[in-house]
Amino acid sequence: MSEVPDAAPSPEAADPVYDWDAYGFDTRQVHAGEFDEPAYGARTAPIYLSAAFRFDSFDEATRRFGGEDLGHIYSRNLNPTNGVAERRIASLERGTGAIVVASGQAAITAAVLGLVGAGERFVSTASIYSGTRILFGRTFARFGVDVDYVWDPGDEAEWEAAIGPDTKAIFTETIPNPKNDVVDIPAVVRIARRHGIPVIVDNTIATPYLSRPLEDGANVVVHSGTKFLTGHGAAISGIIVDGGNFDWANAGRAYPGITEPAAPGKPSILEVHGRRALELYLRGGIVNDLGPALSPVHAFLLQQGIETLSLRMERHLDNAVAVARHLAQHPAVVDVDYAGLPGHPLHGVAERAYGGRSGSVFAVTVRGGRAGAEVFVDSLRVISRMTNIGDVRSMALHPATTTHLTFSQELRDRLGIADGLVRLSIGIETVADLLGDLDQALEAVERRFPASEEDR
Ligand SMILES: Cc1ncc(COP(=O)(O)O)c(C=O)c1O
Repeated sequence: MSEVPDAAPSPEAADPVYDWDAYGFDTRQVHAGEFDEPAYGARTAPIYLSAAFRFDSFDEATRRFGGEDLGHIYSRNLNPTNGVAERRIASLERGTGAIVVASGQAAITAAVLGLVGAGERFVSTASIYSGTRILFGRTFARFGVDVDYVWDPGDEAEWEAAIGPDTKAIFTETIPNPKNDVVDIPAVVRIARRHGIPVIVDNTIATPYLSRPLEDGANVVVHSGTKFLTGHGAAISGIIVDGGNFDWANAGRAYPGITEPAAPGKPSILEVHGRRALELYLRGGIVNDLGPALSPVHAFLLQQGIETLSLRMERHLDNAVAVARHLAQHPAVVDVDYAGLPGHPLHGVAERAYGGRSGSVFAVTVRGGRAGAEVFVDSLRVISRMTNIGDVRSMALHPATTTHLTFSQELRDRLGIADGLVRLSIGIETVADLLGDLDQALEAVERRFPASEEDR
């Protein structure tokens, strides 16, 4: 075995593909963003555990710090391993670039704070991940960044009332949890365009396999990479994807970090970088300043997880549909919040956007209220009692006493978080094993809360 790097390839051999953009989704999830490792020909992304990178010269250091050369400086804003995950997810979402960060929360923070400053506002749909709602209401409020909620995203009058002259962004999710109350992204984009406001979409639960909000006209996509993208519940990460499709200069609202001189006497980031302006502003500005850098080890796990995204999603979705249908006809079940089911108020949106497979995170409400939910959750044996979603493993959680514990009863009621409601994240196990586990847990509920005469 040679200890020296491989010799140069034979001149007759074809070059590998370097630009994967024209290839299919499954091909891009495996290859997009990869680069040749010249020393040994390693075929998976090397993990570059290097905090900083050597400059070839005095002059190169200045050009990199000045932004004329976009090469590596320091892993808080760019690392070669992280770059593979960034180019891969940008390709799948059809964005102009992406930035990986330490968590989904960090991605949302950087994306919103990049556009909305102290004394300004943004509008969000009300049904969003509970941690995001807490971030907006607690930490953003302390920064002077305020949110206005739209409770019914299908009600244009509500949007019009919420959007004011200081509204600098719209935030929403493709498939919110736990209620699975899917959002019609093209409809939100139409409203945003009327006002010239950029739309940020959290696409964590749909993933780019099911939904590509940038193709629907949204401008920024964020992800918790912790979930379906990494896929195996091993590492926390987040991603911001720049759609490169917002006209920052002519929006009619000010985005000074992008359009004003980057430093005294220098051009703006928009003038220098055009369609990549938001990405480079966030990378060199907000993300670099706040510092939620992703470890290259976690970036490796993220890009490797993405390689099997479509395969896992197919199983997640098929299992979720089977579980939702099964639960919906069970006598111990009061309600199933799955927009893929006919009869759900948002079934039309789920059909149009997702062919009826509205993700694999949804809620079931069991008989017996809080006590019924406790019996149900404590009886599960295959499905794990835990927070997190989008893992290959199936998981169950009681939102009212965990993720939504700090919410007032009034807010929980308004969000539809009933006492008997349990969130399910359906994994890729054998579906019969999941149905069997749910059935035995529901039998325990029935034993404890027998059907009344009216129920029969
Ligand atoms: C839809 C959604 N967005 C963002 C987050 C936050 O991601 P992270 O836990 O990676 O910070 C979560 C976490 O559950 C989520 O479900």
